[in-house]
Amino acid sequence: MTLRTCVVGASGFVGGELLRILLQHSGVEVVCATSRKFKGEYVYRVHPHLRGFTQLKFVEPTIDAALKADVVFLALPHGESVKWVPKLYESGVAVFDLSADFRLKDPNAYVEWYKWPQPHPYPDLLQKAVYGQPELHRNELVGAKLVAVPGCMATASILMLAPLAKHGLLGGAPPVVDAKIGSSGAGAEGSIVDLHSYRTYVVRPYEPVHHRHIAEIEQELSLLAGKKIRVAFTPHAVDLVRGIFATGHTYVERLPTEADMWKMYRALFGDSKFIRIVKDRLGIARYPNTKYVIGSNFVDLGFELDPRLNRVVTFAAIDNLVRGAAGQAVQAFNVAFGFPEDEGLRYIPLAPV
Ligand SMILES: NC(=O)c1ccc[n+]([C@@H]2O[C@H](COP(=O)([O-])OP(=O)(O)OC[C@H]3O[C@@H](n4cnc5c(N)ncnc54)[C@H](OP(=O)(O)O)[C@@H]3O)[C@@H](O)[C@H]2O)c1
Repeated sequence: MTLRTCVVGASGFVGGELLRILLQHSGVEVVCATSRKFKGEYVYRVHPHLRGFTQLKFVEPTIDAALKADVVFLALPHGESVKWVPKLYESGVAVFDLSADFRLKDPNAYVEWYKWPQPHPYPDLLQKAVYGQPELHRNELVGAKLVAVPGCMATASILMLAPLAKHGLLGGAPPVVDAKIGSSGAGAEGSIVDLHSYRTYVVRPYEPVHHRHIAEIEQELSLLAGKKIRVAFTPHAVDLVRGIFATGHTYVERLPTEADMWKMYRALFGDSKFIRIVKDRLGIARYPNTKYVIGSNFVDLGFELDPRLNRVVTFAAIDNLVRGAAGQAVQAFNVAFGFPEDEGLRYIPLAPV
């Protein structure tokens, strides 16, 4: 089976990463890549690492261009995908949306978290959209036609805390999640503070109390816990190009044992090809580290127990452009269309980077 795919928003960082992965996927032919700014230009002139792998040229982003494909990946800014998804969905193509426009089930949440002037205009499509985190929604993804690919920092935070949510350890004070992210998280057209001179050596918080990823983190952890879970989340911009590192602090009434923790993580993720538990007594990486996931779809998870404060400390490291975006989208696509879950994604992380 060869599926024709189109990447809309292909000149951006996530679009480029989608092309890198899809061009090596055995079940896919990339038939279109859109850009307004670069229409008519060879893709490799904007993504030089793809030179020799494709002779595609960017085309104007139009619904007609996208409808030449069986599967469309939307790598558009928030608020743009919502203009595309209903038309594509009605036309019968499968849509994998990497923006936040279909991630939240509650239409009103878009007013609070994304400052939309009114609730989401397509509440029916919100219900149909599958939250594309394969480890947590594998069964719903099979045959899915509309997939909302999770946010990057949300991916790290949710997967790190999912075993605790599932086993009832998140019921008390909200867990505190501290996340760090590299500059590619801001896209290819980041603001002035993402220019090299401002960004180098940086460790700074941003949106420290009301970051929009909180909405999807709480949505997914609440589903797992079977009750409303709230999370205290603060992201930081750091001097990396790729990479997200999340640390969670969960205060519990009764501290689990280390054996309990291993059991919880293995029960949820034991069959996952992309989740590695990193908790070692020897070696140079005893906990997760962004350095050892770059270029791959892996999620490295770890934990430590603090009996003094009854605190469970959890860690997650991912590459934001792969597991936080394009890789997770292709993983979800593989599940949806019955390919091996790791097709096109068998990259060993680069080291050293
Ligand atoms: N960067 C990450 O780590 C990351 C991780 C997870 C999810 N995401 C999400 O993925 C999406 C893309 O992110 P990105 O980092 O790749 O952003 P980006 O580098 O700024 O790319 C945005 C792309 O969308 C196109 N575009 C912008 N406005 C458009 C419009 N009105 N109509 C058609 N095309 C338009 C741009 O190309 P032209 O201007 O040339 O048309 C470009 O190709 C965003 O929703 C982002 O939040 C990003």
